[in-house]
Amino acid sequence: MKIKPFGATGIELPAIGQGTWNMPESGAKLKEAQRAIRRGVELGMTHIDTAEMYGAGRVEELLGEAIRGIPREKLFIATKVLPGNASYRGTLSAAEGSLRRLRCDYLDLYLLHWLGTHPLQETMRAFDRLIDDGKVRFAGVSNFEAWEMLEAGSYLRSGTPACNQVLYHLCERGVEHEVLPAARRAGAAVVAYTPFGRGTFLRGSRRRATLERIAGKHRATVRQIALAFLIRDPLLFTIPKAAGVEHVEENAGAAAITLDAEDVAAIDADFPLGERGPLATL
Ligand SMILES: NC(=O)c1ccc[n+]([C@@H]2O[C@H](COP(=O)([O-])OP(=O)(O)OC[C@H]3O[C@@H](n4cnc5c(N)ncnc54)[C@H](OP(=O)(O)O)[C@@H]3O)[C@@H](O)[C@H]2O)c1
Repeated sequence: MKIKPFGATGIELPAIGQGTWNMPESGAKLKEAQRAIRRGVELGMTHIDTAEMYGAGRVEELLGEAIRGIPREKLFIATKVLPGNASYRGTLSAAEGSLRRLRCDYLDLYLLHWLGTHPLQETMRAFDRLIDDGKVRFAGVSNFEAWEMLEAGSYLRSGTPACNQVLYHLCERGVEHEVLPAARRAGAAVVAYTPFGRGTFLRGSRRRATLERIAGKHRATVRQIALAFLIRDPLLFTIPKAAGVEHVEENAGAAAITLDAEDVAAIDADFPLGERGPLATL
């Protein structure tokens, strides 16, 4: 697995981690999803993303079960506070809830899921308090416009969020206009969520043919090319969600692919950047 510096945190993380949204919550599919997460960890996808929102806390519990027995220091667990809970006291108590459900003593990364109505300064102050108390290692944001991300950083003692987790895939490249340049200047990593964009990148024969040609050249699959594109810059990370071992293995394999300038130009031609506009979210 390719590892690289995670923003200005001073640590390195795998370019490709694992998402958990919509993870199966019962039966054989749950067992397979938990096996898949453990297989992902074996393959170096140790950055695992979840949120108190997913399954109203249930996904954190199931992830906690999946990782039981794996030495904690081998994992990088990220979870998110819901904006409605993100007052100063609410954030402290939401973090306790996530820790309990995950059965962890600390979170590696704690994100504000999106900007809500609680003053951002309060949430960031709570994040610094959690860091002081040893309950969180790094604070970050999600779904933040460039200027919101910079404002969040101004309230954090570190001066910058560790990352901004944003919607980014071949058919939704809006973050390249402002979020990526601002993150680069600020020293924040950018984590691409929904990297397969609900499969839309596979629609259209010309686009598909381009991806298949690049995939053939790299002896890869089109999904691996989609992921390789999203981690092409040192700033960029991604967290595909896969509920089966085969999918996890395919996704992990994408980290070994380095697209060349010709590949990127072909993708740029068929998946254009699009107009500047408000940040897209799910
Ligand atoms: N911050 C936010 O607001 C936010 C929003 C959305 C998502 N996220 C995070 O980002 C993660 C990823 O985003 P996402 O779950 O929306 O979408 P995604 O990772 O782009 O796509 C997940 C879908 O792709 C399928 N898939 C994965 N690998 C595959 C493969 N190799 N071949 C074929 N199909 C494959 C999965 O199927 P199987 O499950 O059957 O393998 C699932 O249906 C989430 O799980 C969550 O942790 C964050």
